[in-house]
Amino acid sequence: MSAQIIDGKVISQAVRDEVAQEVEELKAAAVEPCLAVMLVGEDAASKVYVGMKEKKCAEVGIKAIDQRLPADTSQEEILSIIDSWNEDPSIHGILVQLPLPDHVDEKTVMERIRPEKDADGFHPVNVGRLASGDPNAFRPCTPAGVQVMLKHIGYDPAGKHAVIVGRSNIVGRPMAAILSQKAPWANATVTMAHSRSEDLGAITRSADLLIVAVGWPNAVTAEMVSEGTVVIDVGVNRVDDDSRERGYRLVGDVAYDEIAEKASWITPVPGGVGPMTIAMLLKNTVVAARRLAGLA
Ligand SMILES: NC(=O)c1ccc[n+]([C@@H]2O[C@H](COP(=O)([O-])OP(=O)(O)OC[C@H]3O[C@@H](n4cnc5c(N)ncnc54)[C@H](OP(=O)(O)O)[C@@H]3O)[C@@H](O)[C@H]2O)c1
Repeated sequence: MSAQIIDGKVISQAVRDEVAQEVEELKAAAVEPCLAVMLVGEDAASKVYVGMKEKKCAEVGIKAIDQRLPADTSQEEILSIIDSWNEDPSIHGILVQLPLPDHVDEKTVMERIRPEKDADGFHPVNVGRLASGDPNAFRPCTPAGVQVMLKHIGYDPAGKHAVIVGRSNIVGRPMAAILSQKAPWANATVTMAHSRSEDLGAITRSADLLIVAVGWPNAVTAEMVSEGTVVIDVGVNRVDDDSRERGYRLVGDVAYDEIAEKASWITPVPGGVGPMTIAMLLKNTVVAARRLAGLA
């Protein structure tokens, strides 16, 4: 079998088109959706991510407030800016780019964001709502994007065995919560594996749907995958590549070429899950705007 490609660029464009339409409708109702973004420090990767998020906001008509702060900004100041954003009715979504500098407690900062403006879906109130099956919880963008991809290709996980490798709070755990919901495009039987799982290959071979978010290349190889599996590769890793001008290329967490021979569907890296994450951030922002304006 040779896998069909799940094209994240095409699917994320469809989501962004939908968001742009929703933004127009909100503006017609005198609501300008607005996402406030905070970046503390000089982390190069974070700067790139924040830049991309703001660019994509502009493309769909969402206003972005760009708050860049020096690395030595006190936690108190960060919290006071969040407090002012929480109170500001013209701001609908709040995003604090992680990681924060060491002297700042990420948990305290994330918990300060009003749950109704939690565009990233990381606030414990939203985590709890998602875990308890509340369909109105803001969902973390990456796993929410994976579910949209499955819907786009018409793959209903209901009744299937979904194996998720990785249990981080931003990918693995919310992915498990989303796929195990008693709801459309969910209802899967979910197994969440991690670094302490015994015989990972036996677990991954039993998957109908395999989602990998581990953080290193070739973490899942072809012998760990059964014929016909739907494979979603969340990983983004840099590997040295002298043939590229920038000296590296991006690869995922699965051995793509060999697994593509066995899988029924597979996401590429780049161009797979990555573009979905920002698209879902935009989606969360318009949902927040609609709710806060009393239009939902
Ligand atoms: N496309 C996107 O938009 C997007 C968004 C977020 C993340 N990512 C990428 O996704 C990957 C995972 O990110 P993350 O934030 O979830 O990473 P993370 O917080 O480092 O979590 C990695 C998970 O993988 C597990 N793991 C590590 N080695 C393992 C092994 N040998 N066997 C089984 N499980 C193993 C860890 O287990 P323990 O819990 O036992 O340590 C942990 O649960 C990274 O490549 C990241 O860049 C992409």
